Amino acid sequence: MEKMWSGRFIGSASSLLDQFNASIMFDRKLYREDIEGSLAHAAMLTKQGILTTEEFRQITEGLNQVMSEIESGVFEWKISDEDLHMAIEKRLTAIIGDAGKKLHTARSRNDQVAVDFRRYVLRKNLEIVDALKLLMHEVLVVASKHTETILPGMTHLQHAQPINFAFHLGAYLAMFKRDIERFESSHKRNNISPLGCAALAGTPHNIDRNMTAELLGFDGVSTNCLDTVSDRDFALEILFNISTMMMHISRLSEELVMWSSYEFGFVELSDEYSTGSSIMPQKKNPDVPELLRGKTGRVYGSLMGLLTVMKGLPLAYNKDTQEDKEGVFDAVETAELSLEILKEAIKTMQVKPHNMEKASKIGHLSATDLADYLVQKCNIPFREAHFITGKAVAKSEELKIDLSDIELQYLQEIDSRIDEDVLKFLSITNSMNARTSAGGTATLRTKEQLEYFKSFLGV
Ligand code: ARG
Repeated sequence: MEKMWSGRFIGSASSLLDQFNASIMFDRKLYREDIEGSLAHAAMLTKQGILTTEEFRQITEGLNQVMSEIESGVFEWKISDEDLHMAIEKRLTAIIGDAGKKLHTARSRNDQVAVDFRRYVLRKNLEIVDALKLLMHEVLVVASKHTETILPGMTHLQHAQPINFAFHLGAYLAMFKRDIERFESSHKRNNISPLGCAALAGTPHNIDRNMTAELLGFDGVSTNCLDTVSDRDFALEILFNISTMMMHISRLSEELVMWSSYEFGFVELSDEYSTGSSIMPQKKNPDVPELLRGKTGRVYGSLMGLLTVMKGLPLAYNKDTQEDKEGVFDAVETAELSLEILKEAIKTMQVKPHNMEKASKIGHLSATDLADYLVQKCNIPFREAHFITGKAVAKSEELKIDLSDIELQYLQEIDSRIDEDVLKFLSITNSMNARTSAGGTATLRTKEQLEYFKSFLGV
């Protein structure tokens, strides 16, 4: 089988080399980007007088035929063709003859693959943004119903202060908003065309890079060709951005796993998104959030993999770079599937406010409020107030009750400066609603936060 680059070779390539060297098994995913890139390149070559109008017509027709052969599944992907660029060009030439051989004028596979892969990544940035927005929307729907549903806010996984469930979900809305902004800024930064950089140094042909950039939807052309053909920052950025997003998804998943346990009982995942055990008939397992947590690891692996591929490469293109694609494809597919299934799991889960409120009555969640009361109403220095509150907590423990239920007389025995108005400070609901500082959990503030995220989504 003759290679496109076989001119200077006498012996033919071993089939072991074909297997090792080829990327066609995975880069064929980029066929649309590749054909669109070729169409734009051919249009530019024609405008510049490098191709005739007749050659352009043949190339366009031929490429459209190749596209439909690929989409209908009749295109033959052969490992001996090495990569999709050569497979498509070879098929084009088989269909239209000599005009096909002119398409690669003023172009190299180095700028060609940079265009194809970059455009794939740019498109995926925007698709992931759309999926993140749909997820945020579902989280907002649940949050809107629970601005008064109290649960224990935690630090060190210990009950700390009462918050409401919408406020808790609002933390994830803030994370997902940052994720969206990261994908968008990466898209903006990387939306420049590599086409026309050729192998590494540009080309002596009279090309118009701005024209192909515009035809392919880029904002402009890259500045330095040597950098452009070996730059994979756009791929690293999407891997980092997906990794960070998956880290957020994984943290929420961890909470869903805990919350759906008997010990918490804060939510119940729907049957549709839960699984059973093969041996224990009573079980309902949260496989979805567990897998989301687990898949985060492999996305990190792809990020570390590509960072490592890139770190030792001299300028410009090196074949190592071919290893850039599979990790990105896998991470993108993982991200898309994860966003979709998390959205459905959240949409269909049942929230259990009663259990959340019950848990809020454990652990003396309004202890800080008693200390704040002593400071504000009795003019006691905070350290002393902290100590007095400690005594009140100890008394509640002794009485086997929560601090929010302690009777006034016990508090007054501890410190006579305490007055009847303390009781409303001890109520769990009042404690939550007292936190009215900007970004705080008070229902009033939480509602403002939800409005902020709604307007971010434009709903
Ligand atoms: N299949 C190659 C890749 O994915 C295309 C570029 C090949 N360029 C070269 N000079 N061998 O990176």
